Amino acid sequence: MRRKLAAGNWKMNGTSAELARLTTLAESHGSAGCDVLICPPATLLSRAAEALSGSAIAVGGQDCHGATSGAHTGDISAGMLKDAGASHVILGHSERRADHGEGDALVRTKSEAAIAAGLTAVICLGESLSERDAGQTLDVIGTQLEGSTPDGASGARVVIAYEPVWAIGTGKVPTTDQIGEVHDFIRTGLTRRFGAEAGDAIRILYGGSVKPGNAAEIFAVSNVDGALVGGASLKPEDFGPIIDALE
Ligand code: G3H
Repeated sequence: MRRKLAAGNWKMNGTSAELARLTTLAESHGSAGCDVLICPPATLLSRAAEALSGSAIAVGGQDCHGATSGAHTGDISAGMLKDAGASHVILGHSERRADHGEGDALVRTKSEAAIAAGLTAVICLGESLSERDAGQTLDVIGTQLEGSTPDGASGARVVIAYEPVWAIGTGKVPTTDQIGEVHDFIRTGLTRRFGAEAGDAIRILYGGSVKPGNAAEIFAVSNVDGALVGGASLKPEDFGPIIDALE
C-alpha cells in the first residue's frame, strides 16, 4: 500500500517573511495521515527545515546539480541540499526543462546524484498542449519516463510527478479519465522496468492546478498517489484542505 504524498513547490516565491506559513502548516498538519513535503526556494531551505523540525513535514529542494562539487557557479549539489535539511528534491520540472533546456539525460544524471546523496528524487514528466492535441501524450511521457528515471529506482528513493505543462498555473485540469490513462501508463512502465515490487511501490503524483475544490476528485483516480502543488501550496488555508483530501 503506497502512502499518499502532498508535496508543495513554492517555485521562485517566498522570503523570510513567508516562513510563518510553515509554522501555521506545522500546527495544523504537522502529523498528517499522509506524507507532506514542502519545497521552498533554496535560500529558505535551512530555515524551513528548522521551522518544521519536530513536525512530520519534510523539506525538499527544487533542483540540484549532477556533480557532487566543483566549479559550477550558482549551482547547488544534492549533498548541499541534504546538508541544509532536505530529504527530497524536485527534478526535471517543466519550468526547468523550458527555462534551462534540461533534457531527459540531464534529469537522469541529477536523479542519480540525488539518490547517491541520500535524497528522494521527485522526477517530473508532462506533455505540452500541442503534444496532447497531436495525440502524442503517451509517447512523450514514455520517453521522458525511460530517459529521466535512473536504473534501480525504488519507492523509497523515487517519486514520479505527472504534470501536463498546459495545466500548470492555468486553472485547466485534465479530465479524470485523462489523468487515469497517464497514471496507469506510468505504473505499467515502472513495473515493466523495475519489477512488480519496486514498480508498484513508486508513488505517482499528479500536478497542475490542484486546488481544494478539485483535490478529492483527482485523488480518487487510480494510481494517483498524491499531488505536486504549486500556487495553492503557498497558502496554508489552501494547502491544508488538499492535505485533508488525501487522508
Ligand atoms: O510543481 C508544481 C506544479 O508546477 C503545479 O503548479 O499547482 O501552480 O499549477 P500549480
